[in-house]
Amino acid sequence: MQGIGIIGAQWGDEGKGRVVDLLTEQAQVVVRYQGGNNAGHTCVIGNQKIVLHLVPSGILRPGRLCLITNGVVVNPQVLVEEIARLKSAGFLENEDRIRLSDRAHLILPYHQRIDVLREERRGAQKIGTTGRGIGPAYEDKARRAGLRVGDLLEPEEFKKKLAANLEENNAYIEKILGGKGFTLAEILEPFREYGEKLRGLVADTSRLLDAEVKKGSRILFEGAQGSLLDLDHGTYPYVTSSTTTSGSIFSGTGLGFGRLPLLMVGVTKAYTTRVGSGPFPTELSDPVGDRLVEAGGEFGSTTGRRRRTGWLDILALNYASRLSGLGGLALTKIDVLSGLDPVRLAVAYRYRGERLTEFPADLKILSQCEPEYESLPGWQENLGSVRRLSDLPRAVRNYLARVEELTGLPVLLMSLGAERGQTIVIRDPFSL
Ligand code: GDP
Ligand code: IMO
Ligand code: MG
Repeated sequence: MQGIGIIGAQWGDEGKGRVVDLLTEQAQVVVRYQGGNNAGHTCVIGNQKIVLHLVPSGILRPGRLCLITNGVVVNPQVLVEEIARLKSAGFLENEDRIRLSDRAHLILPYHQRIDVLREERRGAQKIGTTGRGIGPAYEDKARRAGLRVGDLLEPEEFKKKLAANLEENNAYIEKILGGKGFTLAEILEPFREYGEKLRGLVADTSRLLDAEVKKGSRILFEGAQGSLLDLDHGTYPYVTSSTTTSGSIFSGTGLGFGRLPLLMVGVTKAYTTRVGSGPFPTELSDPVGDRLVEAGGEFGSTTGRRRRTGWLDILALNYASRLSGLGGLALTKIDVLSGLDPVRLAVAYRYRGERLTEFPADLKILSQCEPEYESLPGWQENLGSVRRLSDLPRAVRNYLARVEELTGLPVLLMSLGAERGQTIVIRDPFSL
């Protein structure tokens, strides 16, 4: 395979960053193509923990080209700060390895304020967004009023467009949301500076990507969020505002379908987590759920919020597989299940006396579903130092085999701890 898509197969935070970091060893190019700094992708290298919000996780290996393409919404302040952090941590010798699409839309301060104020207004009905302005930025893009990275490079044009947008957004913030608007200068000054700092990175990333495809480079596409947060196919309205399934690899980069052989790898934890509101059929509000939070360190990488936890949901996983055309799985955090006996897999839902074996798209149905579990023997061993499949306890291998059987997907990679080396490559996806 020349290209691999790393797709979150649950509600986000599956461990996509660490899987990308692992596979980057064999890749030359890594691409972020949707979402924004609502993402928090964690990589642990030795005793160093790095959380990336916009720059592809491939940056942590020397020499790799990292693209932030048109489908991403970019908060330039966050990007500038992230680059500075990477430099001071010794991961970025040269900014030349990062390229930012001139067509990527900008997140402006008013987007963030609208996001936060709207959530406050919703009260108990809130979506539980990350408060980063993601939704409002994609709204402006869709209504053809957005400002793009390319605009940053032309200060006079930028000023004109910003003035027009500000008038509308300020009126909305002040009259509808009861907040305080922004002055033109308040935004213009810092954005002029971000423009200057980012100028050297801006490029037509679609053409760069095409050139890499032609060269035969191995390319990783780093998804953000998870399939069940997909704007169209997720648990709407408790979703994010972008397409998180594999389709956006094409629209989000300008790569044509069929231009290179691509394999979609779905990343899933050995259990399930969710941050924010919305239905979650296998959620555990009991000591087992608390234990998953503690053992798995389940606090958000972006907002620090406690994640909701539950058993692995095979229906949700199969739905994600169908939506993205998954060809294999990367199973993370299997170490967290040690000491739980039995371990459970949701294999069906009960809904008003009916047995459902497919994930229902209708939120009203989903919120009334009771999972039907299959129990498997647990294991007590600490898995953190295991590096070979054959060294895993039999119960873990049974668990893997059962997940493969129920999803019809091979587990290609697994991780047994947060540190870079705590992985087992069962089958190298690039070799398929
Ligand atoms: P992403 O958004 O999909 O990249 O995932 P996050 O980084 O938000 O969340 C995954 C969390 O689990 C991070 O804190 C990782 O360091 C951690 N993690 C990843 N893989 C493993 C694993 O195999 N075992 C354990 N214990 N932690 C892991
Ligand atoms: P990574 O890439 C987990 C969730 C938020 C909220 C919903 C909408 O790290 O897996 P938004 O700010 O996008 O409008 O919030 O989506 N969410 C995530 N949950 N991981 C993420 O990213 C997420 N990005 C957004 O918690 O429920
Ligand atoms: Mg995350």
